[in-house]
Amino acid sequence: MLRKILLASLALVGAVNAQRGACSATTTVVQTQADIDNLQSCATLGGDLVLGPNLVTATLNGIRTIKGDLIISNCLVLQTLSAPELGSIEGKFNMTSLTVLNSCSFPALRSVGEIYWQTLPALSSLTFTATVTQASRVIITDTILESLQGINLVTVQQFNINNNRYLKEVKVQLTNVTDSLAIEFNSPAVAASFPNLVWCNNATFRSCGDVQLPNLGVVNGSLGFFENGFNDLSAPKLTSVGTGTQGGDITFANNKKLTNVSMPQITTVFGTVQFVNNSNVEEIEGFPKLSVVHGSIDVSGEFDKADFPAIKDIRGGFNLQTTAQFDCDKLSGLKSSVKGKYVCSGAVTNPGTEGTTPNTNGNGSSSSGKKNSAGRFTVGNSLAATPVLVFFAALFL
Ligand SMILES: *[C@@H]1O[C@H](CO)[C@@H](O)[C@H](O)[C@H]1NC(C)=O
Ligand SMILES: *[C@@H]1O[C@H](CO)[C@@H](O)[C@H](O)[C@H]1NC(C)=O
Ligand SMILES: *[C@@H]1O[C@H](CO)[C@@H](O)[C@H](O)[C@H]1NC(C)=O
Ligand SMILES: *[C@@H]1O[C@H](CO)[C@@H](O)[C@H](O)[C@H]1NC(C)=O
Ligand SMILES: *[C@@H]1O[C@H](CO)[C@@H](O)[C@H](O)[C@H]1NC(C)=O
Ligand SMILES: *[C@@H]1O[C@H](CO)[C@@H](O)[C@H](O)[C@H]1NC(C)=O
Ligand SMILES: *[C@@H]1O[C@H](CO)[C@@H](O)[C@H](O)[C@H]1NC(C)=O
Repeated sequence: MLRKILLASLALVGAVNAQRGACSATTTVVQTQADIDNLQSCATLGGDLVLGPNLVTATLNGIRTIKGDLIISNCLVLQTLSAPELGSIEGKFNMTSLTVLNSCSFPALRSVGEIYWQTLPALSSLTFTATVTQASRVIITDTILESLQGINLVTVQQFNINNNRYLKEVKVQLTNVTDSLAIEFNSPAVAASFPNLVWCNNATFRSCGDVQLPNLGVVNGSLGFFENGFNDLSAPKLTSVGTGTQGGDITFANNKKLTNVSMPQITTVFGTVQFVNNSNVEEIEGFPKLSVVHGSIDVSGEFDKADFPAIKDIRGGFNLQTTAQFDCDKLSGLKSSVKGKYVCSGAVTNPGTEGTTPNTNGNGSSSSGKKNSAGRFTVGNSLAATPVLVFFAALFL
């Protein structure tokens, strides 16, 4: 009797030790649901958990914390994944190339080190009932997710959502993005909304149907809008873009429906302000307080009006080329603030960016070239391209 009890308790100790070993392994690879069930009493897994390639359904019962990574990669038959009690993944939550995964349920998950999901062509929604509110990086690419409901972070280093062609809304409570924010190539209708974002290192919006940045105050890197489908872009609280050491640009390129940009509080851009190929923009007048630009102002297109009324200092050049008739004299106050090359030209047949020569049909009001600090007339490319003008310029030298 005593021997029996002794043996039973020894067996129990052995089992507990085996369990402890499993719970603290640096990497645990599970091939079957039975392997997963062996971890059921591990409330905390000390290392990484890796799912093997033959699982069709995987249910991670009992595990509450994974201290390492959860890696589910190239599981080509995995259809259903759930972790009913998992609240925290301290490392990466990596789901890569899961071609038939169509159900992903993490109803208790709140905190993840990094979300890295790539190529999930069958996953259209998430069941993240508790909502992930902490993650340092989120990269979601090439999925059919229709919404990111269940992921709602306050601060993040990197937030990059791209190539999710059915994704129609990205609305996140982010206040600070310390590295980069990029929403690119999702559904053309995607509405990107960051109602609480006040500070962002770098932000890029490409192919978005709408972008809302009502509280954005500072962009420490660059802010770019490319090939978007929206009509209006407003950043009512933005005061500066870039830093004195690294610059930082504001770019609007190829936004075919854009008509109105409004940045009423911006005073300083440490790089360049560029408008290019936004063919519907008729007025560039949304920068009423912009006074210092360390790079250039480079605007080209088909607009009738443009003005930067508060400019005091443009350390780079100024390039304005438009197909419309344009009265460059209205910008005369600005010209003396431009340290680099000044070009202003209306009625340009093929308006180009800084460095190109405006090609007018003779109808535009055009001016270029500038006296340098030594008082010598420097010949801009636009003049140099015309042999007759080069001849006249040569007379001045
Ligand atoms: C995700 O996991 C796969 C498979 O282990 C790996 O190849 C890939 O580099 C991982 N991605 C990241 C960002 O860690
Ligand atoms: C955002 O984070 C950066 C980097 O940590 C910091 O310098 C900045 O002050 C933060 N901004 C806000 C508004 O919290
Ligand atoms: C920063 O933003 C610019 C323009 O929006 C983009 O071209 C560049 O790749 C971004 N850099 C990083 C590190 O995200
Ligand atoms: C702001 O940008 C500068 C220049 O790129 C960089 O050195 C600095 O670390 C950035 N600041 C933060 C808080 O990320
Ligand atoms: C442009 O947008 C701003 C802010 O949204 C608005 O006040 C202004 O009237 C708009 N301008 C035009 C021409 O629509
Ligand atoms: C502007 O559009 C023209 C013609 O489509 C294209 O060649 C050029 O690369 C575009 N410029 C930029 C900066 O995207
Ligand atoms: C110049 O402008 C006038 C009036 O806008 C127009 O009638 C004429 O055709 C233009 N000339 C050229 C060469 O484009």
